[in-house]
This record gives sequence, C-alpha cells and structure tokens, in this order.
Amino acid sequence: MIFLALALLPALVSAQGAVYSQCGGQGWTGATTCVAGATCVVSNPYYSQCLPSTGGGTTTTSTVATTSTVATSTPPSTSTASAPGGSQTPAVGNPYEGYDIYITDYYTAEVNAAADNITDATTKAAALSVANIPSFTWFDTVSKVPDLGTYLSAASAQGNSSGTPMIVQIIVYDLPDRDCAAAASNGEFSIADNGQANYFDYIDQIVAQIKAFPDVRVVAIIEPDSLANLVTNLSVEKCANAQTTYLACVTYAIQQLNALGNVYSYLDAGHAGWLGWPANLGPAAQLFANLYTSAGSPSFVRGLATNVANYNALTAASPDPITQGNPNYDESHYIAALAPELTSAGFPAHFIVDQGRSGVQNIRAQWGDWCNVKGAGFGTRPTTSTGISAVDAIVWAKPGGESDGTSNTSSPRYDFHCGQADADQPAPEAGTWFQEFFTTLVTKANPPL
Ligand code: BGC
Repeated sequence: MIFLALALLPALVSAQGAVYSQCGGQGWTGATTCVAGATCVVSNPYYSQCLPSTGGGTTTTSTVATTSTVATSTPPSTSTASAPGGSQTPAVGNPYEGYDIYITDYYTAEVNAAADNITDATTKAAALSVANIPSFTWFDTVSKVPDLGTYLSAASAQGNSSGTPMIVQIIVYDLPDRDCAAAASNGEFSIADNGQANYFDYIDQIVAQIKAFPDVRVVAIIEPDSLANLVTNLSVEKCANAQTTYLACVTYAIQQLNALGNVYSYLDAGHAGWLGWPANLGPAAQLFANLYTSAGSPSFVRGLATNVANYNALTAASPDPITQGNPNYDESHYIAALAPELTSAGFPAHFIVDQGRSGVQNIRAQWGDWCNVKGAGFGTRPTTSTGISAVDAIVWAKPGGESDGTSNTSSPRYDFHCGQADADQPAPEAGTWFQEFFTTLVTKANPPL
C-alpha cells in the first residue's frame, strides 16, 4: 500500500487543473493545483475552483464601480427620490424609481475574467458588456456578510458623487436546512445543530452592516424557494421538519430589516410553474399573508420576487408546451392570478421578476427543470418599464454565469436535475463560475447584448 501510494504520488502532484476546473472540496481526489495563470480558490467546503489569477474569485479588485443603465419609466419624483434611509415610513410607490443600482466589483471581476478567456472578438465584447448590468449579490454564507459593508460604502460614495442615490441589491440566503426539497444548494447551517440561532446571528450581522449606511437603499430578496417549499413540499421530510424554523427565521429577517428603515424586502415566491398552478395560488397567498401579518405587517415588505434563478418568460409569445395544463404559463399570468388573492389576504401585491436568464424559451424537457438549462440566453435587461403596474422592476437576480448546481454525481450536493439531458454538463458546484454556460448566455442573449 505504502509503495503504491508513493509510486502514484508524483503523478498526482504534477496534475494541474485547467482554468475553471475543480481543484478541491469535500471528497475531491483530483488535481489540487492549477495551470499557470490560474489560482485554486476555495468557494465553499464542497468546492474549490481554478480561477484566472487576474480576476474573479475572492480577490476583490479596486475597480471603480459603474452605474447601471437601468431605465426608469418616469422621472424621479422628489417624494420618492429624496426619501432618506433610516425613515420608518417607506417611500410611496416603486422603491426602484429615482435610484441607480450599484454593481459589485465581485461580479465585474467574474465577468472580466470570463471575457479574457473568450477568443472570438464579438463574443468577448458582448461578454464584457454584461459587467455593466446589475444583478443581486447572494449572501449564501455568513462569511460573505462583511462584503456587504464594502458594497454599501462604495455605493454611498458613488451616490454622493453622482447626486443620484443608490440601491444595493442583496439576496438573504442562509436558512438552516436550506434547499430542503433539493440538494444542489444545501447550506452551511443545520436545524439540528443550532441552526436557528446561527441564522439570527447571520441576520444581525447583515443588519449591523446596513445600519452604518442609512443613505443607501437596499432591496432584499428573502430566501429563495423557502416559503414555496412550505406550500408544496411538506411531504418531503426535510421540509416538514424545517417548517417552524423557516417561518421563525424569515419572520426574524423581515422584522429586523424592516426596523432599519432603508431596506425594501421582497419575499421569494417561486415561479409560474410552481406556485402558479391554480391549486397552489390560494395556499401560497395565505401563507405569505399569515407570515406577514403575524410579523406585524412590516411596512418595508414591498411584495414578492418571482422566477428567481429560473428560466420563465415574463410574457411568453406563446405557451411553452411543457406548461400545458396551467393557464398561468408565464410570470405575467402567474402574477395577475396571484395578486388579487394576496390583496384580499392582506399582503402587498407588488413584484420584482428575474429575467436574467430567460432570453430563450422552449428549451426545457419539463417545467420543473431548473439546473443550468442548456441553450439559455441572457434576457430582458433590468428596468422599471415593465408594462405591468404590479411589477416594480425586471431584475437579474441570479448572476448569469454562476452555476445552479454540480453535475458531478459523487458530490454531496449532486441533484439529479443537474444530470438531466437538458442540463448543461459538466457543471461545477452551485454558485461557482460555469464558463461554458456563461458563453452560451452571451451568444444567445435576447435581446442581444
Ligand atoms: C447557490 C449560491 C449562489 C447563488 C448565486 C445559488 O444557487 O446556492 O451559492 O450564491 O446561486 O449564484
């Protein structure tokens, strides 16, 4: 045995991972070093990745953040634009109006590094332009929370110099027993191991960061998939077991964020192919409304976020055949059907809708397929000109190019959806960079970049 191990050692040591390949993580037995020009960066306990040494990864650059080109449908009115942070009364109307959206150095670096690795000049130029489009930052581990202070500070400075106040867009995403009906995004906290207390501490840390920057407006999407799982997946043991904790944690999150006075929250509401089925609309509206009223109807809870990290159109040209049986075949139909139910249950019926990767339709074998869908393209740019009064903004919630989940069947977070025929493969762990997928998003962008 010893002889064998020694004999194999030189071969293992000399193997080097290509750029964007895996180089470490729980159970990983392949190369742990990278080719010249790439560095092995730890993403999470499950995954390390060879990232281009000149960008991406956890090393933040000092690039000056750029202002987004989000169009506003009406000129900012003084009442909304000048509402200072720290106020206990929310601004009237759409919280996006009159604000620019901050773009993080983190995503800019990911995109720039990706563009460096594209040879075709036209595709490279299109790829680079993605760095000017705002997306949300996912706080998927407590260790990332200090970055929020960095972004808020930069956004504050940018707002002061431009004269236009800034929004920082965040996703609160660290529930204990997270992603209870799937595997790809299982998180760091466990209910059995102090999860609720850990989560409260995570929220407290976010609150502490935001408190220091009352002049910056924060838009927060609260816990993708969590409440939707409580509507439809209580037959999954992990979800049934998580029900009370999810409700307590989401309640804590919205109450604490509400008290800050500059954070507008949208609870995640799945998508048309999930809660949009007619039988699910009523129970969903009830759950959102019950949680909201029992939390004291926090006035900065603005509404719901739909299609987060999914692939549905806001307005489909025609129903994708896979939606058959559901009259709510796109997000606009889902929203139109859900809004009156929310209103009558006492929940504010405003929405933001992720269209970041919805540019190409009719590419899935089944509506429930959510993992790195092959042939997806970047979609409608973020805008407040949504054409639907209940929809405050079209947003890009999932940073395009970051994976939905690994296709490696031996990973502890392998989910079968990521191994299906319509899932792009080989795919790295959720949240890490997926270069081939990004290039396709760029080339298939609709409208084109
Ligand atoms: C992952 C997160 C990641 C997010 C954005 C989720 O699916 O679980 O780790 O931050 O996507 O890419």
